[in-house]
Amino acid sequence: MPSQQVYDSKDGALYTTSNGAPVARPYAAQKIGVNGPLLLADFHHIDLLAHFDRERIPERVVHAKGAGAHGYFEVTHDITDLTSAALFKKIGTKARTTIRFSTVGGESGSPDTARDPRGFAVKIRTEEGNLDWVFNNTPVFFIRDPAKFPHFIHTQKRDPQTHLKDADMFWDYLSQNPESIHQVMILFSDRGTPDGYHNQHGYSGHTYKFVNAEGEWVYVQIHLRAEKGFKTLDNDTAGKIAGENPDYGIQKLFEAIESKDYPTWNVYVQTMTAEQAEKFRYNVLDLTKVWPHGEFPLRPIGKVVLDENPQNYFAEVEQSAFSPSHTVPGIEPSADPVLQSRLFSYPDTHRHRLGVNYQQLPVNAPVVPVANFQRDGAMAFVSQGARPNYQSTISPLTYRGRPYEDKDWKHEVWVGNARLELSEINELDFEQPRNLWTKVFDDTAREHLVYNVAAHMRNAKNAEIKARQLSVFAAVDQGLSDRIAKAIGAPTVTPLKAAPASQSNRLKTNIGATTVS
Ligand code: HEM
Repeated sequence: MPSQQVYDSKDGALYTTSNGAPVARPYAAQKIGVNGPLLLADFHHIDLLAHFDRERIPERVVHAKGAGAHGYFEVTHDITDLTSAALFKKIGTKARTTIRFSTVGGESGSPDTARDPRGFAVKIRTEEGNLDWVFNNTPVFFIRDPAKFPHFIHTQKRDPQTHLKDADMFWDYLSQNPESIHQVMILFSDRGTPDGYHNQHGYSGHTYKFVNAEGEWVYVQIHLRAEKGFKTLDNDTAGKIAGENPDYGIQKLFEAIESKDYPTWNVYVQTMTAEQAEKFRYNVLDLTKVWPHGEFPLRPIGKVVLDENPQNYFAEVEQSAFSPSHTVPGIEPSADPVLQSRLFSYPDTHRHRLGVNYQQLPVNAPVVPVANFQRDGAMAFVSQGARPNYQSTISPLTYRGRPYEDKDWKHEVWVGNARLELSEINELDFEQPRNLWTKVFDDTAREHLVYNVAAHMRNAKNAEIKARQLSVFAAVDQGLSDRIAKAIGAPTVTPLKAAPASQSNRLKTNIGATTVS
């Protein structure tokens, strides 16, 4: 790993206290006489216990269980027409990369094969700073209004009183927020139980923007496709493995790399111009929707290979801190409100979880020098020496010998009525799930979806909640809903009433307007 001192497990190092003083007997606590009390002067013993008492840091509030490894991102195709990012200037450029995979809802000891989306967080160390892609293994998400996120997550976690996971909470939320149905159907297909962490694809889900050297931009969706394909488990096998080996995914990833069977992904983008977005059937800032590949084909840009296991899980995986706001010039977030909220939320949680200087930790530190006016704070070990700590005309910010060239780029403003559009459920919300059911899934996939949903939903006790969720499935396809109803022994229901598909759901941009201040 970059800038991390390597400690060999067999290096025969001298045993010391934390200040490096040698200690003769690791097990001996000093006491007065044979049965006497312990000595306050025994720094070795106090050092040992006091550090042990502080070993845990807060686990991630979501995505607590995970596995990670290092490798590289390699540029395989010229995309300088799309982005000015220095990473993509030359075919063949390789950048040191770390990936952390995770489940979402469970605690850090929970099983790797739980039915859940998987996090797919990538840190690419470029010559212009770190580029983080904090993706999932599904192309869509449960929400498009960020205000719903904490509510939604709470329903996947434990009940405040019983401290149990609760199928009523789970389906209560989903049945009242039907924009989730596309993701719910992917989650309850066998893609909800991938076979390990690395045999799966990664998707930006959100729309991002690539900006080229001329300041022209396009919307992009980014895809990482596993070279060996997306391997899944069926419901019962995943459940069995959860009991037998909760760390199945961590183990598979570690062993694959140790045996030099390096996990590899080919990276693609789909692109869409602002003009195309105006005419697109769906709102391009709505992450419950995919962009059809037929209309917006995948264009190859690079590949990612994981070829190095961490030496120390805590330092290189647990302390890793990813954020969609860690980006580089030429790659920008879109105005997707969920993505915009994430730009704030990740560095905020890192400051809580790891401390204000989390970017100085070896796994997070950029490979390029950092030069700014941030100073001090807890555990600051890079304080930028004698550099001035403020900007003035006498001591200008010229740390790299030159200020970064500020290209007065044009940015778009989204003028659609976000609040209204995000809250309204209309017929468009069921089109892609219906397509999934009728065209993408084969008979086995359909059978598994019904079986998997029923296995979970029959645990919900409240008949009203079950009927409501069945009406969401019925809005997708009456036959799907009826099959689930039969499997859980519930009465069949009619589809929920959705508003007609309207123009208002499409993206409106004020192309060319500038927000640069
Ligand atoms: C982790 C918030 C939506 C992917 C996290 C963490 C927070 C968070 C607080 C813990 C980070 C840490 O402690 O290091 C949110 C909020 C969201 C949101 C507020 C929406 C409003 C999403 C979406 C995706 C996503 C839509 C994927 C498209 C991830 C991943 C991680 C993560 C991959 C784990 C990162 C790692 O491995 O360290 N999220 N999230 N999240 N989130 Fe989100």
